[in-house]
Amino acid sequence: MPSALLCVKNLSVHFGGLKAVDDVSFELGAGEILGLLGPNGAGKTTCFNAISGVYPPTSGEILYDGRRANGTPPHGMAKLGVGRTFQIVHPFVGLSARENVIVALGGDHYRGALWRSLASWKKRSIADEADEILRTVGLLDMADRRVGQMPIGNLRRVEIARALALRPRLLLLDESFSGLHHSEILHIEGLVRHIRDTGVSVLLIEHNMKVAMALSDRVVVLDHGRKLAEGLPSEVSSNPAVIEAYLGRGGSGNAA
Ligand SMILES: Nc1ncnc2c1ncn2[C@@H]1O[C@H](COP(=O)(O)OP(=O)(O)O)[C@@H](O)[C@H]1O
Ligand SMILES: [Mg+2]
Repeated sequence: MPSALLCVKNLSVHFGGLKAVDDVSFELGAGEILGLLGPNGAGKTTCFNAISGVYPPTSGEILYDGRRANGTPPHGMAKLGVGRTFQIVHPFVGLSARENVIVALGGDHYRGALWRSLASWKKRSIADEADEILRTVGLLDMADRRVGQMPIGNLRRVEIARALALRPRLLLLDESFSGLHHSEILHIEGLVRHIRDTGVSVLLIEHNMKVAMALSDRVVVLDHGRKLAEGLPSEVSSNPAVIEAYLGRGGSGNAA
């Protein structure tokens, strides 16, 4: 594996008596797409929340780019180059796609009176930067559309665009394919590969096992907060414990 950008070491996150994440370790190499899989409630999103600084680990260590990142708040992790999307999308629904990316580019400086007070050349250059990101995610022709009117496939792309506005080195995608149909899934698969090819490492949580297996270089499977398996998609998808974790509950092989 290439040198590790992210190192999760014996991570535990407990909520009272519930061990949502329990002694989980894995590494993500620079330029890698790593899939984080597991049934519903396995602890995947909690892992993301610990890595992105939303929850402090109960124990264990998160090393990002060789530095201990425990306790760094979300905006600190964002500054270090960790961008993320959310399982439940939460863009600014009253704003256009371009405005959503502009806000992500500049935080509160790019809203309301502060935005209006910027020189017009500055506003133009920020808007151009936002448009370049919208082009990357395939939404440039909808830049002026209010995101509240967009279908879920486009909302997921707006989420990715907002995360890309941070110019991340590590992108965390929490179920970016959820609720999409086949052609949208193919489009976002292509987008994730393109993002990786620009030098961004990707950690993705995926509901759909087939999508995760097709896209990931390696996968880590969680179950009940613990790491159940890790390896190449081909190895892990034939692992009896993984099959049992997925098929033993719900029977579709497609659980979250
Ligand atoms: N903030 C929280 N407070 C209490 N329990 C939580 C919290 N966040 C998640 N959990 C619980 O932790 C477990 C793992 O949740 P989560 O990480 O969201 O799973 P996944 O993303 O794999 O579906 C679940 O039992 C969930 O109910
Ligand atoms: Mg989740």
